[in-house]
Amino acid sequence: MAKDTVTVIDNRTGQQLELPIKDGTINALDLRKLKTGPEDFGLMTYDPAYMNTAACRSSITYIDGDKGILRYRGYPIEELAERKSFAEVAYLLLHGELPAADQLAQWKGQVTHHTMVHENVKKFIDGFQYDAHPMGILQTTVAALSTFYPDAKNIGDPECRKLQILRLIGKVPTLSAYAYRHRMGLPYVPPDNDLSYTGNFLNLLFKMAEPKYVPNPVLEKALDILFILHADHEQNCSTTAMRGIGSSHVDPYSALAGATAALWGPLHGGANEAVLRMLTEIKTIANVPGFIEKVKKGEGRLMGFGHRIYKNYDPRAKILKEMADKVFAVQGTNPLLDIAIELERIALHDEYFVQRKLYPNVDFYSGIIYQAMKFPVDMFPVLFAIPRTVGWLAQWEEMLTDQEQKIARPRQIYTGHWERHLPEYDAAAAGARA
Ligand code: CMC
Repeated sequence: MAKDTVTVIDNRTGQQLELPIKDGTINALDLRKLKTGPEDFGLMTYDPAYMNTAACRSSITYIDGDKGILRYRGYPIEELAERKSFAEVAYLLLHGELPAADQLAQWKGQVTHHTMVHENVKKFIDGFQYDAHPMGILQTTVAALSTFYPDAKNIGDPECRKLQILRLIGKVPTLSAYAYRHRMGLPYVPPDNDLSYTGNFLNLLFKMAEPKYVPNPVLEKALDILFILHADHEQNCSTTAMRGIGSSHVDPYSALAGATAALWGPLHGGANEAVLRMLTEIKTIANVPGFIEKVKKGEGRLMGFGHRIYKNYDPRAKILKEMADKVFAVQGTNPLLDIAIELERIALHDEYFVQRKLYPNVDFYSGIIYQAMKFPVDMFPVLFAIPRTVGWLAQWEEMLTDQEQKIARPRQIYTGHWERHLPEYDAAAAGARA
């Protein structure tokens, strides 16, 4: 029977090494045994952007990029989006199992208990420029929370971690909505704990003078599904930032601020905003072929297309495309949808995109839906960050309780100058003095 090993022969020394294969991986540290001599550090792997490196074990999210499969704790994303609420999915991601009715009621109560923010937080949001990007406001206010909760540094205490997780899931929508209201020159309204997680978020954003805000049930449901789809996505750039920063044992607010920063980039969660700007620039369906030609010449990217892991249709994009019609039925259609559909139609048949297996990702349709829901374009990455907070925290908890994890510290291949000296420095004399 074939052994689950791989044999590496070092042609420099003739040394032969049999490496066990476990879970489809070899242990990179085993390669260090291949040395040319006692002075040699040993063989390392070189993997910029972690293209082929598993950095952790995780039982939270599974993706099969070739088949277009996404599962949270084993449940297909399609089933969760159709049958479950965001509150249930958040519980599932953090606890490993879906909540029973009493657990769900308790969970909702715990989260809503933490939706308010300290009055001083509003004061420093007021200090931002009137046109400050809400993602910048969210990132900095989340970081600032660490100064309000100095107890959060006790990351070794499970009860303390649980409290910070509840605080973050409760407060991130409030901070996000206040960033929006500051931008619009609107007063900050208090959370309404009678409402669902997404219903309360809509209240925090859009409540005016009415005594009780009543969210539109179709929009509330649509946002709930959007939140479910964005809740986790295994070891993406921002989650890697969360784990990496958290591995230094800093408090979770500081780590989550770093993850939020990573998410903001246009190659990651900022892509939904970039898609909208791209569609607006394209303007008409007639301009689509010309735009595609520019992309193929390397003059920009087709935003909302392509993925490191999915080499097939992103399952989240499929759900969103179907959901768009429900939102449009309430809010009126978004003319940019026709441009998006034409872009997709051409790209899915064009050799350039087919060869590179570039398909629409979650950000391709989400922005069009958010815009139809009357969110300003720069709120889009914030709408990604709110549900991803749950994923970041589930991954942070998993990282801290994983005995194999240590402070994240990759190696490098040094390409700079070898030792050299300042012209005025007499190295020989210094050596003699030593
Ligand atoms: N438009 C045009 N060409 C592309 C695109 C695109 N959107 N994405 C990749 N390519 C090309 C790329 O130029 C390269 O071609 P070549 O082999 O000739 O050099 C090839 O496809 C492979 O691309 P890559 O940059 O090596 O792939 P990657 O895995 O490093 O990048 C990505 C993944 C998502 C950053 C990239 O596809 C991209 O920039 N997409 C647009 C931004 C976007 O929509 N991001 C959202 C990702 S999903 C939400 C999330 O979870 O973050």
